[in-house]
Amino acid sequence: MDIILLGPPGAGKGTQASRLEDEHGMVQLSTGDMLRAAVKAGTEVGLKAKALMDAGALVPDEVVSGIIGDRLDELGPEQGVIFDGYPRTAAQAASLDEILADRNRVLSFVIELAVDEDALVERITGRFTCAKCGEGYHDTFKQPAVEGVCDVCGSTEFKRRPDDNEETVRTRMQEYRAKTAPILPIYEARGIVRKVNGMGSMAEVNEAIEAVLSL
Ligand code: AP5
Repeated sequence: MDIILLGPPGAGKGTQASRLEDEHGMVQLSTGDMLRAAVKAGTEVGLKAKALMDAGALVPDEVVSGIIGDRLDELGPEQGVIFDGYPRTAAQAASLDEILADRNRVLSFVIELAVDEDALVERITGRFTCAKCGEGYHDTFKQPAVEGVCDVCGSTEFKRRPDDNEETVRTRMQEYRAKTAPILPIYEARGIVRKVNGMGSMAEVNEAIEAVLSL
């Protein structure tokens, strides 16, 4: 089963995708994570993406669609995928249709995480991750069990994203409203959108997504 998690910055796409990976053996394809890895590695894609990401603007469509296609080619046909942060424009949605059709894959659901945007700034500015294994945490909503020690790998090093400041978050939200929210009707016309309340606890949101997937 291939699904899209759609929602504004901080809606919980990454958090829920990671849970689905653990629970269903699906593979999370996060264009944001892939671009950050490219920036870190200093590749050509990373060089193109860095300034745009730091400003909260979208990276060109052909760049992200290219990396999604390449990544899918590494997976077997039976491997279910969670698209996290892709597609984000009408052009990307059209590319995804082609990418999936070329590989005989079918999109089962688009799960829209419905959230209150005012609460998202707090979610994003409080976010941090383990520098070693990438486990996600939050200053208020998800602290490590032992302060300063990662629950998963025991590392004591954590990091914050450079684009997780209030000003950039506002730009990212404008980009979402202007370019990403308008793609929902494409999928609504196909009858595959399922709206989930993203304002519950992480466990409640997960339960609501599970209910959709078990239909
Ligand atoms: P990307 O990495 O995709 O960032 P984003 O869409 O802005 O989404 P976030 O990762 O900020 O939020 P999320 O919904 O995953 O929330 P999370 O689960 O972490 O993109 C970054 C940049 O890359 C873009 O600005 C753009 O430049 C570029 N880019 C990426 N994809 C692109 C594309 N397709 N096209 C063009 N450019 C692209 O949760 C946030 C925090 O809240 C966490 O701390 C978490 O612990 C907490 N939290 C989560 N759920 C809950 C809950 N239910 N209750 C309380 N706290 C919660």
